[in-house]
Amino acid sequence: MALLEIHTFPDSVLRQKAEPVTVFDQELDETAQSMLETMYFSGGIGLAAIQAGILKQIIVIDLKSGEEDTELREPHVFINPEILEKSGTTVSEEGCLSVIEFRAEVDRAEEIIIEYQDVAGNSKKLEAEDMMSICLQHEIDHLNGILFIDHLPLLKQKMIKKRLTKLANDEA
Ligand code: CO
Repeated sequence: MALLEIHTFPDSVLRQKAEPVTVFDQELDETAQSMLETMYFSGGIGLAAIQAGILKQIIVIDLKSGEEDTELREPHVFINPEILEKSGTTVSEEGCLSVIEFRAEVDRAEEIIIEYQDVAGNSKKLEAEDMMSICLQHEIDHLNGILFIDHLPLLKQKMIKKRLTKLANDEA
């Protein structure tokens, strides 16, 4: 396992579309484990492979990521996730490991039903609500080249993107 480098806005890789995973082998499992390690190290609760420059439909989520005691953590790996149904609306503050030092309230569906595969390739279904639902929608967006800031009102979005681009240029 190795820590992966996380790409940040406005890196163009974040705008790519991830390809479906077709081979469920040791390498896939290792990639998922490295993604989890990277997510824990970075203090996030979710990570999409595309954020590490890997254009595959792989997502990891752990809502207990902040637990010091690793026994209490709840790692999840979703391969080729697809939203089948959405219902309700909810607003919550989101952040992203690829969008440095910025958080904002985003509208999402309250509950979703997804279909996905586990690392062994078994098809599964999950009904998610609350944080799991929000986090899944955020990460599935990544697989389609969409960031949470794309959901903000247009004017605010322009302002934020300009500021983030300037910040990135100043650091380079
Ligand atoms: Co994100």
